[in-house]
Amino acid sequence: MPSTALTIGILIVLAAISVRLFYPNIFDGGPNFTRKPNATYDYIIVGGGAAGSVLAARLSERNDTTVLLLEAGGSDWNNPNIDIPVMAPFSLGSDIDWVYYGEPQPGLYQAMTGQRSYWPRGRVLGGSGSINGMAVVRGSRHDYDRWARYTGDPTWDYQHVLSYFKRMEDMRIPELRDSVYHGQQGPLKIDHIDACPLVNTLQKAGEEIGYPPNKDYNGRSMEGLIQVQNNVDKGTRLSASKAYLHPVLGRSNLHVLLNAHVQKVLFKGKRATGVEFIRDGLKRTVEVSREVVLSAGTIGSAHILLLSGVGPGKHLQDKHIPVVAELPVGENLQDHVATELQVGITEPLSRTASGLASLWSLLQYKLLGTGPFGSSFFLENMAFKSTNPDTKKIDWPDLQLHFFNSNSGTATLKNLNVNEKTIKEMKYRDAWPFGFICFPTLLRPESRGSITLASTDPFDYPRIRPNYLNTQYDVDILLKGIEECKALVSTKTMKAIGAELLDTVPLRACKQHKFDSREYWTCYIKLKPLTVYHPVGTCKMGPDGDSTAVVDPQLRVRGLSGLRVVDASIMPWIVSGNTHIPTIMIAEKAADMILGRECPPPTKVNK
Ligand SMILES: Cc1cc2nc3c(=O)[nH]c(=O)nc-3n(C[C@H](O)[C@H](O)[C@H](O)COP(=O)(O)OP(=O)(O)OC[C@H]3O[C@@H](n4cnc5c(N)ncnc54)[C@H](O)[C@@H]3O)c2cc1C
Ligand SMILES: *[C@@H]1O[C@H](CO)[C@@H](O)[C@H](O)[C@H]1NC(C)=O
Ligand SMILES: *[C@@H]1O[C@H](CO)[C@@H](O)[C@H](O)[C@H]1NC(C)=O
Ligand SMILES: *[C@@H]1O[C@H](CO)[C@@H](O)[C@H](O)[C@H]1NC(C)=O
Repeated sequence: MPSTALTIGILIVLAAISVRLFYPNIFDGGPNFTRKPNATYDYIIVGGGAAGSVLAARLSERNDTTVLLLEAGGSDWNNPNIDIPVMAPFSLGSDIDWVYYGEPQPGLYQAMTGQRSYWPRGRVLGGSGSINGMAVVRGSRHDYDRWARYTGDPTWDYQHVLSYFKRMEDMRIPELRDSVYHGQQGPLKIDHIDACPLVNTLQKAGEEIGYPPNKDYNGRSMEGLIQVQNNVDKGTRLSASKAYLHPVLGRSNLHVLLNAHVQKVLFKGKRATGVEFIRDGLKRTVEVSREVVLSAGTIGSAHILLLSGVGPGKHLQDKHIPVVAELPVGENLQDHVATELQVGITEPLSRTASGLASLWSLLQYKLLGTGPFGSSFFLENMAFKSTNPDTKKIDWPDLQLHFFNSNSGTATLKNLNVNEKTIKEMKYRDAWPFGFICFPTLLRPESRGSITLASTDPFDYPRIRPNYLNTQYDVDILLKGIEECKALVSTKTMKAIGAELLDTVPLRACKQHKFDSREYWTCYIKLKPLTVYHPVGTCKMGPDGDSTAVVDPQLRVRGLSGLRVVDASIMPWIVSGNTHIPTIMIAEKAADMILGRECPPPTKVNK
């Protein structure tokens, strides 16, 4: 008996120690969020995601303004799935994910559950940045120069936005800290995670097939195959919410109201006067004296505008919604579509499940911030490449390869919404203990999708039509991506570690085509078009008088006053890279516009 009591006692002490170790703040209720909002504010920001967190922090810097941030989800305080990078997959499908699905499309998705695409989106402070892969990518200088040419506003060009990219960050990678392309004073820490040894092997293999050595794809040139930069602080996720918002939650002029689902913007004539939201099942309104800013993301902001009567006239009339302004809201939807191939290796260089399960890994992470727990989706390398001579000449990559450095086998396919039947067929992947996924991604799609209302119920999800792979060009870039993956596997470097492409067992649905032919891979791509979760463009920014644009270059909704959109939805063309950091930049720039502050001078860099 005494020994049982002793064991229990020891267990309790151990449990207490580990709770303190992992969650030092667990007994602290966290920051005090607003419970009862005031009747009116100078600014109301809708959505506490990547853009909304930045805006709330920047607008409340001025102590003569009052700011309300409304977020449909809850707090991101003390949530291991958010904090610990390796836990990120557990957020998918959980209560902090909106869990959207695209509409089925003829000829696509036969290998996907429900024959459709799964679109996770964060419903929590930090937004999608609280559940994302934390890859820090700015995109190409040409993306922003094109925005500036198109809008006629030179402050959207690369050298101007570069000043904002620098302002936001605190670069911790030693060899990049003093680079003219990077900043040291911003709230967002950027670092490498402690990656697995495969990272260097892949880089070497890349150089063997012509990827130029490159220390920084966010610097002078994107082209190369290198280690990913991450928004992490000693191995812990640093979202925009944590970097910008948490430190200023004590400001008396800033209120943050959680679990507040905004259903529409209220207007008096053409002027936005407030918003209507639902909280605890009750409908409430709050008024604004200056501006309502929608930062609810590419799906959320379009959805709210449509419900408010801002959108395509005919569509609104069909839904019996009074038209406040006729604008192409929900059109111009763009995303980065992808395919994937599994490569097995025989050397133990990649991440493994057993590596994760070890106590040492846990302690290593908690005490040193290193080891496999710091790795988000095991996304540790990426490559950028121009596949045609024109884009190569000007250095504007059209293909990205993401590398997920583990053989998680068919478990990964499940997260990607691949159906049981296909997973069964691909079981051969599970036989390999080590390996990686090569994930070719189309950077500048020609296809355009749309978002429309399914109903006028604000809790009914809108209809999402990704319209992936609707042009031959879009398919061709992914075919070139598959060739890149194959070339990489054939290098001396990769052969030396026993690399082998595993997807050489023809899938039944494509068996009418000769294996390894163009037709075969086209079929393979169309069976499971994947997303890297970068939808943008539904509230497109454009020059005055352009009928395809929803907002002007100052991000004001055209034809209305007191209303802006500030988030990923304003991109006229999707950037040639992951979209989180560009969205934070957009919010940094918008904060200056809203407060009437000068845009910082351009950062002069050589072409
Ligand atoms: C799984 C996943 C992995 C990704 N990986 C990467 C990556 O590695 N690197 C990268 O650069 N990008 C990545 N992204 C993309 C990146 O996270 C997004 O581009 C970015 O977060 C977009 O910012 P946003 O402010 O436009 O929207 P979000 O960050 O999604 O924020 C929108 C916010 O608005 C709230 N909201 C929506 N509707 C309402 C409403 N009606 N009322 C109140 N609030 C509302 C939402 O709950 C959310 O908090 C990933 C995304 C996902 C989902
Ligand atoms: C929250 O409010 C309590 C009581 O007013 C206070 O003691 C605590 O310090 C506050 N917490 C934060 C993080 O501000
Ligand atoms: C508000 O900010 C101004 C300028 O930064 C400063 O001079 C003033 O003291 C601040 N007022 C309060 C009440 O904090
Ligand atoms: C809310 O209202 C109170 C009372 O009028 C005021 O003192 C306070 O500054 C307001 N807070 C914000 C954030 O608007």
